Amino acid sequence: MYGAAGLTRLMSRRGSWRFGYPHRPPGTPTDMAVTKARGADEFVPAEADLPTLKQAAASCRGCELYKNASQTVFGDGDQHARIMLVGEMPGDREDREGRPFVGPAGRLLAKALAEAEIDRSSAYVTNVVKHFKFTERGKRRIHQTPTRTEVVACRPWLVAELDLLEPEVLVCLGATAAKAIFGPSFRLTRHHGELLPAPELDGTPWAGNEGPGIVATVHPSAVLRTRNDRATMYAEMVEDLRVAASALR
Ligand code: URA
Ligand code: SF4
Repeated sequence: MYGAAGLTRLMSRRGSWRFGYPHRPPGTPTDMAVTKARGADEFVPAEADLPTLKQAAASCRGCELYKNASQTVFGDGDQHARIMLVGEMPGDREDREGRPFVGPAGRLLAKALAEAEIDRSSAYVTNVVKHFKFTERGKRRIHQTPTRTEVVACRPWLVAELDLLEPEVLVCLGATAAKAIFGPSFRLTRHHGELLPAPELDGTPWAGNEGPGIVATVHPSAVLRTRNDRATMYAEMVEDLRVAASALR
């Protein structure tokens, strides 16, 4: 179907095979565009630096979410960051400002990071899904959890970020991020705060290397929303982040 050169390019492009979702080379006739998410893969440039990736993501059409959102919210931070934090999806504020974690969840995260002695300015912060998904209720835009299809569609951007930064530690903020890395059966309640090895799937961007140590914790928005004991939940989040901090040393 594709020539040898094209095949080599596909195979060397990280994430194409490894996460085990179908790759559709540019220009292949398809009716998928009008039905299912075709995925971000074809929009991800090979061998790109961070500014180039970000620029390419700005015109991603890998799923339907770009249609209603204001802009792509790409990851933010230093290309040499040793720690990467991944959330779920930009919220209302992030969608307007174009940067991840600048709203209420971001403020809580900044406080928790400071308490765990992780320097936010030396961390790279991103999301699994890079467009805001919402329903409108009056003037308010209510966050909607992305579907597994949307997570898988957008994951090539996360893979490209991981590939480029090769962080020593990856923090998954919330179940969506953790499931994007470990698969849908991952249970945050069971495994938060554990320093987990990067899964050796034939789908990880670190195949052949050890990969980052991974720590999952609750999403800061979940702390903000909980009707239960918020202080305890927050303290647990800080505790989990301390595990991530100690893995850096
Ligand atoms: N929640 C997220 O998961 N990411 C953001 O960037 C903001 C809120
Ligand atoms: Fe592309 Fe991700 Fe936006 Fe979908 S959510 S259009 S895959 S950047």
